[in-house]
Amino acid sequence: MKSDLFGETDLKTLFQPSQRILVTGGAGFIGGCLVRRLLKDSDANVFNLDKCGYASDLVNLKALEKIQRHSLLKIDLFHSEDTNQAVAFADPDFVFHLAAESHVDRSIEGPGNFLNSNVIGTFNLLQAIRSHWEKLPTDRQETFRLLHISTDEVFGSLDDSGFFFEDTPYNPRSPYAATKAASDHLVKAWGHTYGIPVVMTNCSNNFGPWQFPEKLIPVVILKALVGESIPLYGDGKNIRDWLFVEDHVDALLLAASKGSLGKKYCVGGNSERSNEEVVRTICDLLDSRIPDNKPHERLIKYVSDRPGHDYRYAIDSTKIKEELSWYPRNTFQKGLESTVDWYLNNLAWCREVSMSSGYYGERLGII
Ligand SMILES: NC(=O)c1ccc[n+]([C@@H]2O[C@H](COP(=O)([O-])OP(=O)(O)OC[C@H]3O[C@@H](n4cnc5c(N)ncnc54)[C@H](O)[C@@H]3O)[C@@H](O)[C@H]2O)c1
Repeated sequence: MKSDLFGETDLKTLFQPSQRILVTGGAGFIGGCLVRRLLKDSDANVFNLDKCGYASDLVNLKALEKIQRHSLLKIDLFHSEDTNQAVAFADPDFVFHLAAESHVDRSIEGPGNFLNSNVIGTFNLLQAIRSHWEKLPTDRQETFRLLHISTDEVFGSLDDSGFFFEDTPYNPRSPYAATKAASDHLVKAWGHTYGIPVVMTNCSNNFGPWQFPEKLIPVVILKALVGESIPLYGDGKNIRDWLFVEDHVDALLLAASKGSLGKKYCVGGNSERSNEEVVRTICDLLDSRIPDNKPHERLIKYVSDRPGHDYRYAIDSTKIKEELSWYPRNTFQKGLESTVDWYLNNLAWCREVSMSSGYYGERLGII
């Protein structure tokens, strides 16, 4: 892709046709967006490692089956031998590690899966990469990169002021955040101790097309469409910093190809919104698209809060902007409009993922 973000170069030069890219979690929301971008805008070979769990997009995987440069490795990182074999088969020059259990409510209900995937899974991947990297010829060893993708939730919760920076101390407060924090520490330690070339990113809340309908934005759209009540946790005042998923993918591509070794980059949209504001904005967009059902905000229902609900997350992205010239190309409003339109035009996809996962919008994570 030619854009001012990638300067004079484009993805075809940053990721060469001979290069092999392993994406873990490539059947999920962000990983899927990254895989599609790599296949569209580079000529590299993409190895998509995913356990194909409940949050995986099997519809998209079917479409990708036809592309020769894409190989699906249906592997659970919890199994070390399978992971070793998959990494040896992919023989990667770049690894983007996104595979993780990712929903806070599910982590409250069943933290064990989060330890298995996010902690043991990352450990198994690191061991497999270590053995792969040590055997590479020097030229490939030097250009090899592991990009570990993490979240701002590892930093804890902010009051009304302040931001998270790269050196903010870790203070995870949900089982999800604790397991992501553990995986960040493992990656850092494997880079420091064994010399694996790692770069890390911590990003704020993503949204966009193809997000599994258990996360706030698709939940609100889909509930409102069928006239069900739209749940708002607590008083609705909790604040998140929202980033359109394609902008996150831009940041990942820049961090993997141009990021400083051993460093981390905070990535955020500078778009802080309370949950209540997000929900009301979606209702307004639906009013303009389906005026017969307005006002959609009549469906909002305040429900009991998430246990241990963090109040506010906000990222300072100065470092990635200054060092890698990244910036978000979508405003929150523009990204949200295209997301709402995508869901309205892809209800068949929503039905299919609900059926294949067995999840139909029920509340999770109440103790
Ligand atoms: N969604 C966000 O707002 C956000 C923000 C910042 C960082 N992140 C991080 O980005 C990554 C991707 O998030 P997402 O929203 O796309 O999640 P997702 O739940 O949509 O997708 C995760 C994918 O990982 C796979 N996976 C989980 N455990 C696995 C295992 N043990 N072995 C193999 N595959 C496994 C799942 O099957 C799924 O396809 C995660 O690491 C998450 O912590 C997400």
